[in-house]
Amino acid sequence: MAASPPADRAAKPAVAVIGAGLMGHGIAQIFAAAGHPVALYDPDAGILASAKERIAAIFTLLGQDSAAMAGIAYHADFNAAVAEADFVFEAGPEKLEVKRKIFHELGARAPRHAILCTNTSAIPIHEIGAELADKSRVVGTHYWNPPHLVPLVEVVQAKGTSAETVAKTIALLKSVGKAPVHVRRDIPGFIGNRLQHALKREAIALVAAGVCDAETLDTVVKEGFGARMAVLGPMEQSDLVGLNLTLDIHKTLIPDLDRTPGPHPFLVEKVGKGELGMATGRGFRAWTPDQANAVRKRLSDFLARSAREIKEKKR
Ligand code: NAI
Repeated sequence: MAASPPADRAAKPAVAVIGAGLMGHGIAQIFAAAGHPVALYDPDAGILASAKERIAAIFTLLGQDSAAMAGIAYHADFNAAVAEADFVFEAGPEKLEVKRKIFHELGARAPRHAILCTNTSAIPIHEIGAELADKSRVVGTHYWNPPHLVPLVEVVQAKGTSAETVAKTIALLKSVGKAPVHVRRDIPGFIGNRLQHALKREAIALVAAGVCDAETLDTVVKEGFGARMAVLGPMEQSDLVGLNLTLDIHKTLIPDLDRTPGPHPFLVEKVGKGELGMATGRGFRAWTPDQANAVRKRLSDFLARSAREIKEKKR
């Protein structure tokens, strides 16, 4: 890496967040709550104006001292937002040309020592940083929505990302209470989304084949193996029951699992009919606005409760 941050900033590195949308305002809140100076940028005046209120709502939800909000500066000017940054978290639109331009600007405007993180869901990270001379400081930080409630951050090492950048990013994320993991290769979906969508592929195929309805499928996950998943990952679960049992099950089951190449026709058909889910009142299941809101509230309450429990345990 080309340079080091000023010594007085080492304890609480300055953070810039690019994009104050769904993910960006939550990412800004995480660092502000932990006492970091935060600069939050968005080119949309309306989104920037509403960010303060949305961030205040997170402090309330988590029962945190909102005095820490004083550490956030709201910027309509990109250059001012990144000028002092030690870490930049980019949470702009999921479009390669937009992200590439942001990173090009970061190369010119952010300090030379700054670590440049992108929250992309799917774009190859080396393509986002393609126009930067120093690619060693470009890294993926894949937060999960809502970022202030879900602990995991996948730290993705792209072609050219230095080990030092990965180590410093992981250390920063740990220091603010996140659960960062090192993804050693920049592959589509990283780790979490590959697992999540492998499960969805089979779920959709089962419903499409009429083995069960969509509600039953959800019950099987939530009341079955999902109930233990927060405390037992699939690898330790396999070790718990024994790899010999896992092998015996796989001999029978794996040949029978769905192998549709590409998106399942059942999903394609639903989207074609405009059955997009809660937003349109029907997806795999039917939803009234009240039912949809109840699901959102159930999720938010559950995640907020577990975030508070995690914080209590760490005290
Ligand atoms: P969003 O649409 O809520 O926010 C994007 C923000 O970027 C908007 O406020 C927009 O005004 C701003 N923006 C537009 N042009 C810009 C530019 N040139 N420079 C800087 N900011 C600009 O999107 P969301 O959901 O927050 O996603 C942001 C990123 O995070 C995307 O790359 C997305 O794929 C990724 N992500 C999203 C997750 C989700 O569940 N929504 C989960 C994990 C990652």
